Amino acid sequence: MHGVTVDPDTRYARGLEWYKIYERLLTGESFDWSGDYYTLRGLATDPLPVQKPRPPVMSAAQSGDGQTFAAQASDILFTSMHSVDQVRDTVLRQTALAALYNRRPDIYVQTQIVCKPSRKEAEDWIHYYAGEKADQEALAYFRRQKAVTLSKSTREATSEADKAVLASVQPTDRKYAGIFPGMYPLVGSPDDLVEEFRKLEAIGVAGSALVFLNYLQEMPYFVQEVLPRMERAGLRRPI
Ligand SMILES: Cc1cc2nc3c(=O)[nH]c(=O)nc-3n(C[C@H](O)[C@H](O)[C@H](O)COP(=O)(O)O)c2cc1C
Repeated sequence: MHGVTVDPDTRYARGLEWYKIYERLLTGESFDWSGDYYTLRGLATDPLPVQKPRPPVMSAAQSGDGQTFAAQASDILFTSMHSVDQVRDTVLRQTALAALYNRRPDIYVQTQIVCKPSRKEAEDWIHYYAGEKADQEALAYFRRQKAVTLSKSTREATSEADKAVLASVQPTDRKYAGIFPGMYPLVGSPDDLVEEFRKLEAIGVAGSALVFLNYLQEMPYFVQEVLPRMERAGLRRPI
């Protein structure tokens, strides 16, 4: 975006060195830095954050390389959800990886919410906008762009997450192809959605970005019907 080329094979190593500098700055120390990617003198920051030792750090990534980075640098891994099995695998891998660095990160995903009074209405609606009306040209453009910036681990594709990213750069026959790749569809009545959230919780997902096609129209119904059900199901604390 800024005309800078970052080597896909070393970008996370560079990012991690950057993160270590940032983390040390937040201790209030003044220091010099000489590393593989950065040589810096007289570093200091002021003011310091209110949260101690630092604000929560969220890292958004889906590749295995991204997960290894997040295990060392973040409190929350915000990742894509291609399937239940892939996210189950990500939660297990991430928990084990982060334990090596004495961290216990939360895993957040992203979900596309389609909630209507009946499951049929919800399915018809997403079938219409993400099936019949799928923007094939935009999807092809996305795949081309993604294909040239794949992480090293994705090209090697050993983890379920990497396999899913690799699959997402190929034309797909997945249901509701028009929604963003890596956005998991939660489709149905309010009771169906609670059941879907229960499944996410059962595989260890701590949170999700909730995406609506038209949030002004769709969120009031979700707030009115789904949130109280989630509270009753013990999936959410009442505010
Ligand atoms: C859930 C999620 C949210 C993301 N949000 C942003 C964003 O807001 N801005 C951005 O520049 N990149 C965003 N990214 C892209 C990542 O920062 C990263 O560049 C990309 O996932 C490629 O790395 P990977 O191959 O390790 O996944 C997001 C990625 C994911 C998975």
